[in-house]
Amino acid sequence: MDAIEIENLTKNYNGTAAVDSINLRIKQAELFGLLGPNGAGKTTMISMLSTILKPSSGNAKINGINISYQNSVRKLIGIVFQDPSLDDELTGMENLTFHSKLYHMPHELSKKRINDVLKLVDLEGKSKMLVKTYSGGMKRRLEIARGLLHHPKILFLDEPTLGLDPQTRRHIWEYIKKLNKEEKITIILTTHYMEEADYLCKRIAIIDHGKIVALGTPKKLKSSISSVKKPTLEDVFIWYTGHAIRDYEGPELDNIRFRARLGWKR
Ligand SMILES: Nc1ncnc2c1ncn2[C@@H]1O[C@H](COP(=O)(O)OP(=O)(O)OP(=O)(O)O)[C@@H](O)[C@H]1O
Ligand SMILES: [Mg+2]
Repeated sequence: MDAIEIENLTKNYNGTAAVDSINLRIKQAELFGLLGPNGAGKTTMISMLSTILKPSSGNAKINGINISYQNSVRKLIGIVFQDPSLDDELTGMENLTFHSKLYHMPHELSKKRINDVLKLVDLEGKSKMLVKTYSGGMKRRLEIARGLLHHPKILFLDEPTLGLDPQTRRHIWEYIKKLNKEEKITIILTTHYMEEADYLCKRIAIIDHGKIVALGTPKKLKSSISSVKKPTLEDVFIWYTGHAIRDYEGPELDNIRFRARLGWKR
């Protein structure tokens, strides 16, 4: 049984497909990368697979379970969202305890798992501090710890290292590799850092306008373009998705997203 089976998965917003009839299979314990320009549909796809968003049509199974069975699927998965989602007014420990209660984890087990995951992300000494006093990197590490707390079989990481310094990013890469190798967790990650995808991912799908435009190992993708000598993954990305800027960067992008959520049409 594959970890993820996706069949014709589609999400339409105002008549436009954000995810357009995607078919894809991800193997057990695979470390899989989803790459694509801003607005390509990566977060929308992860949101449907993690049962946060209902597909417009098509289907997907997580470890053989249809995503329409929300509760069963949620027990199998962990997710680190693209947008920060911690409670700043609580301590690190309180954020994790709250999450363990949401998952109905028995008290003793949750105590042990909280200690384990805090150790994993090097936050043991900081767990009693309010999250609002954490740096950006500490917050991201706490979010990863939270995603792992209930021992998921499949972990979705939506831009896990966005905005982190190179040292913290490298640390997080090593956690991700370790989790995948030692705990055999299937990991699906999105990133705009090509060296990250190249270093971590066994296979990569490049998506654009909601469709998969290239799929394969980093090596195979690089060898698929002949016009560049010794192509990097960034060359591959540009080759398949073009040079046009798809979205605005920075605060303006957040503003557009916010207005899009209110139903404002571009
Ligand atoms: N709630 C929404 N209402 C309307 N349109 C939306 C909504 N959420 C996403 N979209 C649109 O769907 C498309 C895909 O967005 P999505 O967030 O999945 O892209 P992404 O690949 O994750 O981009 P990024 O790299 O910027 O995070 C975009 O055109 C976006 O504007
Ligand atoms: Mg996104």
